[in-house]
Amino acid sequence: MPDTSTTPPNGNEGPVSGDTGQASAEARRREALIDRMGRFDHSFFVRMIVGFLLLTLVVAALEIGLRYTAVLWDFHRVEQDRPELAARDLAEDIRSIMLNEGGPVASRTVYPILERNFRRAGLRIAVEPSEDTRTAIERIYGFTPEGIPADWPEGTFNEGTLEVRAESACLRCHVDSEVGDPLGTVLVRDYLDHRLDDWWDELRLTATVNLAKAGAHTVILFLLLRVLMAPLLSLRSAVARLGKGTSGLRIRAEVASADEFGELAHDLNSFLDRITGLMDELRRTTGRTVSLNTRLTHLTRDAREQLERVEAAVTEALPENEEEWQARGAEGARLTRVMQELHQLRHHVQGIESLEERLDDAADDGQRLLSRLLADPPSDPDDQPPDPDSAV
Ligand code: HEC
Repeated sequence: MPDTSTTPPNGNEGPVSGDTGQASAEARRREALIDRMGRFDHSFFVRMIVGFLLLTLVVAALEIGLRYTAVLWDFHRVEQDRPELAARDLAEDIRSIMLNEGGPVASRTVYPILERNFRRAGLRIAVEPSEDTRTAIERIYGFTPEGIPADWPEGTFNEGTLEVRAESACLRCHVDSEVGDPLGTVLVRDYLDHRLDDWWDELRLTATVNLAKAGAHTVILFLLLRVLMAPLLSLRSAVARLGKGTSGLRIRAEVASADEFGELAHDLNSFLDRITGLMDELRRTTGRTVSLNTRLTHLTRDAREQLERVEAAVTEALPENEEEWQARGAEGARLTRVMQELHQLRHHVQGIESLEERLDDAADDGQRLLSRLLADPPSDPDDQPPDPDSAV
C-alpha cells in the first residue's frame, strides 16, 4: 500500500521535510496574508472615498472649464452685438437728457450715474461731442462740452458705436448743426476681462460651496459604506478565522441582511455544514477502522501465543539424540516438516503484525488530521505525521 499518510495537511508546497523552520515560515506567510486581507476593507474604504473625492474634483474642474468655455463662446459668438444694442440705449438716454428741462447742464451729474449703471452691466461707455457741438455750446454756454471722456482699459473687447444725429428740437442749442448732422458719438465696449472677472468671482464663491458639499458628501458616503459593508466585514472576519483554523469548522457567518451579502453568508454556511457532515462521517469511519484494528490486534496476539505453545509442544516431541531418531524413523521426519510449517506460519503472523502496526499508524494519522480540521489549531510542529521511513 503506498504511504499517503505522510502528505502534510497544507501539502500544496511539495514534500515537507519535517523541518520546523519551513513550517513556521509557512505560518508567517499565512499570517501576512491575513494581515493584508485585514487591511483590505480599510483600503477599500479609502479607495472608495478617495475615488469619490477625485471624481467630485474632476466634475468640478470640468464644470469650471465648461463655464470658462461658455464665457468665451458667449463673448466671441453669441453676444457680439451686445455693445451695439447698448450704444443704441445710451444714445436714447442722451437724447432724453438733452430734451429734459435743464437737462443738458445737469448732464454732468447724470453722466456718472449712467457710467456706473453701464459698468454694473459689464460695459464701458464714452460720449464724444462732435466739432459742431463743441463750437456751438462754447459759444452759447461758455464752457467746453466734454461728454463722457474715454477711459479705456487694456484688453480684448467688443465695441459698438453710434452717431447721435440732430433733430429739429436739438437745433435750439446745437446752433451750428443741421437736422441729421452728427452731434456726437457714443461708444460702448464690452470687455472680456470683465466677464472673466465675473467668472472668477463666481468660481471662488462656488468653489467654497462645492468643497463644503464634497466634504459633506464624503462623510455621508463614508457612513453609508460603513453601514452597507458591515455584513461583508463580518463575513470576511468569519472567513479569516476559518483561514486561521483556530476554531476548526465550527465557525458560521452571520446572515445579517437579505441582500447578496446575506446570500453569500448563507451559502458559505451551507458549504461548511456539508463539509462538517462529511468530516463527521469520515470520523466515524476512522473510528470503526480503529476498533476493527484493535480486534485484529487481539486475534493476532492470541494466534501468536497459540503458535508458540504448539511450537513448544512440537519441540518437546522431537527426538533428542541420534538413537531416538533411528528408533522413531518416519515419525521424526514428519515432526521436522511440522516444525518447518510452524516456522512459515510464524513468519506470516509477523507479517500480519507489522501490517497491523502500519494500519494503526495510518488510523492515528487520520484521527489527528480530522481533529485538526474540525477543531484544534495546528499544535506544535512535532505533531507532524510520522516520516515515511518509520512506516515502511
Ligand atoms: C437746451 C439746450 C440743448 C438742447 C435742446 C439739446 N442739447 Fe445737446 N447739448 C447741450 C449742452 C449744454 C451740451 C454739453 C453738455 C456737456 O458736455 O456738458 C450738449 C451736448 C450734446 C452732445 C454731446 C455730448 C455731451 O454731453 O457733451 C450730444 C450728442 C447732444 N448734445 C445731443 C443732443 C440731441 C440729440 C438733442 C436733441 C434731441 C440735443 N442735444 C438737444 C444742450 C442742448
